[in-house]
Amino acid sequence: MKKIILILSVYVAFISCKNNNLVDESKRGLIVEHAMVVSAREEASKIGSDILQKGGNAFDAMAATQLALAVAYPYAGNIGGGGFMVYRKANGEIGSLDYREKAPLAATKDMYLDAAGNVIPDKSTLGAMAVGVPGSVAGVFAVHEKFGSLPIEDIIKPVIDLAKKGILVTKKQEERIKKYQPLFPKANKDSIVFDKVWKENDTIKYPALAETLTRIMKHGSDEFYKGETAKRLVKFIQDNGGIITEEDLEKYEVKWRTPVTFEYDDLKIISMSPPSSGGICLAQIMEMIEPYDLDEFGHNSVKAIQVIVEAERRAYADRSYYLGDPDFVTIPGETLISNEYLEDRMASFSFEKATLSAEISHGNVQVVESNETTHYSIVDQFGNSVSVTTTLNGAYGSKLYCSDLGFFLNNEMDDFSSKPGVPNMFGLIGAEANSIAPEKRMLSSMTPTIVEKSGELLMSVGTPGGSTIITAVLQTILNVHEYNMTMQQAVNAPRFHHQWLPDVVFFEPNSFSKNIIEKLENLGYSTNEERSPVIGKVDGILILENGKLEGGADRRGDDTAIGF
Ligand code: DON
Repeated sequence: MKKIILILSVYVAFISCKNNNLVDESKRGLIVEHAMVVSAREEASKIGSDILQKGGNAFDAMAATQLALAVAYPYAGNIGGGGFMVYRKANGEIGSLDYREKAPLAATKDMYLDAAGNVIPDKSTLGAMAVGVPGSVAGVFAVHEKFGSLPIEDIIKPVIDLAKKGILVTKKQEERIKKYQPLFPKANKDSIVFDKVWKENDTIKYPALAETLTRIMKHGSDEFYKGETAKRLVKFIQDNGGIITEEDLEKYEVKWRTPVTFEYDDLKIISMSPPSSGGICLAQIMEMIEPYDLDEFGHNSVKAIQVIVEAERRAYADRSYYLGDPDFVTIPGETLISNEYLEDRMASFSFEKATLSAEISHGNVQVVESNETTHYSIVDQFGNSVSVTTTLNGAYGSKLYCSDLGFFLNNEMDDFSSKPGVPNMFGLIGAEANSIAPEKRMLSSMTPTIVEKSGELLMSVGTPGGSTIITAVLQTILNVHEYNMTMQQAVNAPRFHHQWLPDVVFFEPNSFSKNIIEKLENLGYSTNEERSPVIGKVDGILILENGKLEGGADRRGDDTAIGF
């Protein structure tokens, strides 16, 4: 026995996880010594990693990667949308940036309702009326100004070159463009570059975007919010029936916010605070499941799924009622994540039988699968880390593409609750806290997260996935911490999701045994394996015990880790 253990230990190393199971070292993702970027496209990870190799820090790389994704991954990467960044500096200082879109000044609570008070189909998702005031360019410049170390030209120049040189279409991209092509003419008066048939290995060039980025490089953030670009953008949006004005752009500002922090075993989790629901929901779920021996139950076992689903059910019910833009509504944040409150919340849970969502509240909604946001994680050679999730909301946002400037505009307005109790495109229902008001930020599920273990950096992680973002981030952290998976295994592992309403547990298809699904159904859970081909598309970086970095780039996309 001793001999076997000895031989094994040559191949596998222990890392100090909860149950001291062996980590399968052969299943690791890319391992590097110093620094890494993991994003949805190789070209963007490479630009970010090159910035680090040049001596730039994680914040310089954030600016470069955000802009590079606008070129390489127009599906979700953007300058016409917004996002959130959580950071942890090498000295342990933490913080977060909210560069979420805002409702235009002319927005009204009932702007998506008809005279009878019904939600007008597509109005909050397709075309110019769906667009929120974009925050991404302001976000990039705010990060660079506060923490960047390289000149902005060094950061933007490679992105401009990429836009001029063009991007090779991947198989997955070919499929995505084809899938959404029927919607482009509905949102745009003129034809756009994505109306063409694009095949794998074709090159798409973005000369107009290269020019826009060149002006932004020269004149800074003001170019987008007050300069020539602002004027051209507003004219374009208004010509297409939108309500965003020059004043809207001029008044846009980012917000530095205090992240949500909480403990789980010996981990400290640092995640995004409102107007994202991500941090509070993640805290609620993790605190509700902490008392249970998930590692003993086993990964994706019936009992583990039950505990997680029941915690998710309760957290998403709270999300829908309490959460919104903290600058507009009072959120009882501390209570919502307090042990006392959460113990009480879980008191009705039993392994014998599913709790009904109707017993917690009521409603009848549908969920739509999607992965149209994008996440990137960065750790630099100095020990700084960032975790950024950014989005246009839907696939290619509102589908409204400004050919003059070379980018898609978001449809983030759909993240508001157009009408209390009526679901948005992710099946999420909201209440007064997330109703529309001028200059208000719409509630998000984006959950860029950084994890510390015993005071040291352990992980940077996040994902797209609309309402499933929170549960995908949760399962990835648990996979590493409870089940001793490598970063790559953790992001690849099959996932499930529950969001209170609809009262259904969603599973990635063909990933869970019939036996498990049947047992859950017998306990009273409704299950669905068809609606969500994928749940999240997680990218993360794990710091190994020897100080090296392991990248986890999700198999579900073209995601790639690059570092040195
Ligand atoms: O902020 C949010 O929660 C959504 N706009 C995210 C959208 C998203 O993740 C789309 N892709 N799945």
